[in-house]
Amino acid sequence: MKIAVIGGDGTGPEVTREALKVLEAVSKLEKFSFSLNHLDWGSERYMRTGEIIPEGGFDLLRQHDAIFLGAVGHPDVKPGLIEKGLLLVTRFKLDQYINLRPVKLYPGVETPLAGKTPQDIDFVVVRENTEDLYCGMGGFLKKDTPDEVAMQTAVYTRKGCERCIRWAFEFTRKRNNPKGKHLTLVAKTNVLTYGHDLWMRTFEEVAKEYPDVKADYNNVDACCMWMVKSPEFYDVIVTTNMFGDIITDIGAMIQGGLGVAAGGNINPDRGGVSMFEPMGGSAPKYTGQNVINPIAAIGAMAMLLEHTGQPNAGARVLKAVQSVTGTKMKSQSAGKMGHSTSEVGDLVCAAL
Ligand code: IPM
Ligand code: MN
Repeated sequence: MKIAVIGGDGTGPEVTREALKVLEAVSKLEKFSFSLNHLDWGSERYMRTGEIIPEGGFDLLRQHDAIFLGAVGHPDVKPGLIEKGLLLVTRFKLDQYINLRPVKLYPGVETPLAGKTPQDIDFVVVRENTEDLYCGMGGFLKKDTPDEVAMQTAVYTRKGCERCIRWAFEFTRKRNNPKGKHLTLVAKTNVLTYGHDLWMRTFEEVAKEYPDVKADYNNVDACCMWMVKSPEFYDVIVTTNMFGDIITDIGAMIQGGLGVAAGGNINPDRGGVSMFEPMGGSAPKYTGQNVINPIAAIGAMAMLLEHTGQPNAGARVLKAVQSVTGTKMKSQSAGKMGHSTSEVGDLVCAAL
């Protein structure tokens, strides 16, 4: 397995180191080999060279089986610049059309939702990752005048929503929730009467091919309410890019915060290269202190393994993570874990 590693900025490299430590340990147990290609892409390089992804960078990424990304973002670089120039561009260029975000409360992890347990908070959001308001379509008219007009266009295509919806149905079927296979489309059909009408019609059509999956619909505002009130209602959610961005931040909080939330940008097609990352940012103020929580990064590594041909290794890492959160960690917040960053990585390896 050939993995491109972008440690990135701030605490990104610190959490990446722990994820790689766990990869090394599980590769021995599961008897597979891997090679790493460390890429110095990120803010430091940008400030030095003016370049975020070097010439030929995407061709280079395409030669790997997967990409692991630590975090990007630097206080001296304009907010959004690196995120757009690295993360969003890679999603588009490598056509990573699924953004997969498990919302799973691990044992021992505190959720802000009173009375909810790991049995209640265990669902997955499948976010479309290449269309919607993220296409950067739009423009200004009469810019910087009192008559200024700004337009930002949400783009939805039949192909784009269908491939995402179909993948979500397949995923729901494979996940095979013992409480019943249940896929909820989250959108806003009552207001977005063109774009989300396309999503709804496509969803209803594809649903016919999956009679074993209960196909459901929630408006996005109601979904925000239910995620907080009754998260146990959900099994798998499929949603548009912008709404997916927003609701997965709620998801991250109810599963215990950015220290634990992980995600994957997946191109499921043959030869597609997917990228896995902890959801948190580069947390610059903690850089170099060995206090940041690596659990999200280790969870992202588990997802990488699961989606690149090593599902047993992925499941083993996830189990080890849950044993560590359940029995060894005081908190999931930076500096309050009862252990350093590298100790948490060691604990996961020991649990493996
Ligand atoms: C995410 C992030 C990105 C997004 C930002 C950094 C552009 O919030 O991965 O959810 O909006 O998709
Ligand atoms: Mn986001």
